[in-house]
Amino acid sequence: MKINGKNYRTVWMEGTIIKTIEQNQLPEIFKIVDIIGDGAVISAIQTMVVRGAPAIGAMGAYGLAQAIQNLHQPTKKHIQHLRDKIILARPTAYDLEHGLNSVVVMALTGQTEDEIKKMALVAAQEYADRSAEACRLIGEYGNALIKNGDRILTHCNAGALATVDFGTALSPIRAAHRYEKSIFVYVDETRPRLQGAKLTAFELYQEGIDHAVIVDNAAGYFMARSEVDMVITGTDRVAANGDVANKIGTYEKAVVAHENNIPVYIAAPLSTIDFSCPNGDTIPIEERDPDEVLSINGRRVASDGSPALNPAFDVTPAKYITGIITEKGIYKPGELHLLKKQ
Ligand code: MRU
Repeated sequence: MKINGKNYRTVWMEGTIIKTIEQNQLPEIFKIVDIIGDGAVISAIQTMVVRGAPAIGAMGAYGLAQAIQNLHQPTKKHIQHLRDKIILARPTAYDLEHGLNSVVVMALTGQTEDEIKKMALVAAQEYADRSAEACRLIGEYGNALIKNGDRILTHCNAGALATVDFGTALSPIRAAHRYEKSIFVYVDETRPRLQGAKLTAFELYQEGIDHAVIVDNAAGYFMARSEVDMVITGTDRVAANGDVANKIGTYEKAVVAHENNIPVYIAAPLSTIDFSCPNGDTIPIEERDPDEVLSINGRRVASDGSPALNPAFDVTPAKYITGIITEKGIYKPGELHLLKKQ
């Protein structure tokens, strides 16, 4: 992704130091932070220094590879223990499990301590590279859906910042812009953490893509006025039947889009599809700190005695989804089984 004219990935490794863009401080402050140690990896994921499913997956992969370097005579048990610790950082993004498992499997092909350590680093790097390439391809496939003049609504941030690079929902939008289509993006602000207003708008602004931030409650207004041509979002976990979990509010957007005959596309790499979840009811949904709802910019907005509920994701049933854009092409929710062996 381009930031101030320079190309960046969201998360990468230099030697054994993990580097990531500190997302909590964007758009005001662009800062790269070093992440050292499994405690710091878990904290970066939990506090959302790094967030978005594929970016969490890459952070988990790099984090495990880094932690393996510090093991003395690493065994399968040691490596599994670290994996089981990091996986608890956030529950909904399936990519975390996927990224960690890739490192476990490849590290354990090593026969000696040196080989195990080397293979862990190679596995994490290959995972991140594959993830970036998957997102690039999602852009190419998704671009075919976008017509010149289209107005696209997106929710949360499923951009390059939510991935290693390119984004999922924003990748087709980036590609359409690169192919010189005229497009306009409605950016849902995405309460409570404002990933739309803070991150998606930042990415689109940096790339010169025409957009406007809207409050979450305004999406229906624009859809009912026939001012939205399609909805594209990312997802944290796709169930085998095509139900998807994504940022809280996605379900509402999909229902209103359906009511207004607007297509809803979900962009996701195969690393987000969890065939062990038969349907959306079995996807774990993260509950976050109620303070994220009760306070804005550190100032409490609700009365002192009022509690809050803060589910971070909701499930959109497959029946509201027109297609899932993957690195292998675009699939209807009911066709996901075709991707199972890939
Ligand atoms: O809580 P977040 O910011 O990690 O939630 C992110 C999302 O909901 C994204 O849409 C999803 O992870 C897909 S990212 C390409």
